Amino acid sequence: MKLGDIDLTDPHVFERGVPHDYFAFLRNEHPVSWTPNPKGGGFWSVVRYKDITEVEANTEVFSNRTNITPGEVPEETLAATVDRMIILSDPPRHGSLRKLIMSGFTPKAISLIEEHIRQLAVDSIDAVIEDGACDFHDLAAHMPIEVVADLLGVPTEDRQKLFNWANAMFGGGDPRISSLGGMEIARMEMFQYAMQLAHQRRAQPTADVFSQIAMAEENGEQLSEFDLGCFFLILATAGNETTRTQILHATKLLIENPEAMQALREDLSLLPNAIEEMLRITSPALGFARKATQDYEIGGQTIKAGERVMLWYCSGSRDEEVFEHPDLFDIRRKNARDHMAFGSKTGIHRCLGAMLARSELMAILKEIVTRLPDIQLDGEVERLRSNFTNGINHMPVRFTPGKPNRAQKIAFYAANADKRYAHA
Ligand code: HEM
Repeated sequence: MKLGDIDLTDPHVFERGVPHDYFAFLRNEHPVSWTPNPKGGGFWSVVRYKDITEVEANTEVFSNRTNITPGEVPEETLAATVDRMIILSDPPRHGSLRKLIMSGFTPKAISLIEEHIRQLAVDSIDAVIEDGACDFHDLAAHMPIEVVADLLGVPTEDRQKLFNWANAMFGGGDPRISSLGGMEIARMEMFQYAMQLAHQRRAQPTADVFSQIAMAEENGEQLSEFDLGCFFLILATAGNETTRTQILHATKLLIENPEAMQALREDLSLLPNAIEEMLRITSPALGFARKATQDYEIGGQTIKAGERVMLWYCSGSRDEEVFEHPDLFDIRRKNARDHMAFGSKTGIHRCLGAMLARSELMAILKEIVTRLPDIQLDGEVERLRSNFTNGINHMPVRFTPGKPNRAQKIAFYAANADKRYAHA
């Protein structure tokens, strides 16, 4: 294998599967390497655990006020949201935005919605259990979008729209989900909706995180409706596709590793560590980028001011210097929790919703392990064409039918109900 054999800027590569063998080669031979984009531009790929940790800790040099995806997004497109959307901000603005929203994600805040999350998990299984088969994508999509919609106080009648927008925004490189134009339209529509909702919540606050942010003050002043729109967008997208992806991969891992499924069924106390190991193996968010604000030496290379650096979390989580037999799925792995699926422990942008995501994963996997113990793949798994999200579009499964727990059955949101985004 040699440098450049695999084009990490090409989403088609990842559609076939995350190129873990190539990342292993890079970790050993080229820990920091320039990855040119054949269409112009490019980024430095940082693939070792310790180097990712170093970059993440150094916020003076490495800025988030840039395109944080591996794609080539023009800086002008981002200009309006830089320093206003939390993920596109640097200190001190970042600290102040994070403070505004933190209270919605504390252990206490999560514990208050845990029962609701458990109920959503029960409902998700109830919806399919009598049929003995389903597209697991639709099942996995239900809970994350409901939880996010609850946090944002989105009324029931608008939730399909929220689902469509969030999908279109993440599927922007996959023509089966949305075109790049469709992604932009979805982003604008969601933004407009968010600003209207912010206006309503200011007038009549409700008991949700979005109302809380709408009423909060930064340096004695309330946020603008535009800033509230930015919060809406990041929460609606960050908490949706990632968690859905992880539910899908976690279930696939259990299907492919029946001994792990059996062990969990016999002892559910293994589940929290198994979830960390599933996150390590999967890495739903494959990586995030930063921009160097000054020249910096790392891994034997000089990164020049203005160049972008892609932190491949999917590679850091399989670094053989940190994880023994990194490609092995071991639900009893001692240091599984050291994974980078939520970013680096040294990073200020480390996932704000990590605890919430863990709670959702606990609830749904408990249901799957206990109620769908013989779940099997029942057709081809279609992966998302993306080098940003390790997504799955379809995952047909079958299992022995069972009885629902509740009398009232829910219907899942229709995936890609709005084809406009695919054709725009
Ligand atoms: C399995 C599910 C999830 C995964 C794998 C995940 C992963 C990540 C990653 C990798 C980052 C960036 C870290 C960095 O660059 O340092 C991030 C940031 C973030 N995540 Fe998550 N996430 C998940 C679920 C959620 C949920 C459920 C929410 C909330 C509803 C959420 C909200 C956020 C926010 C607000 C940020 C930006 C934080 C900041 O800029 O300070 N995430 N997430």
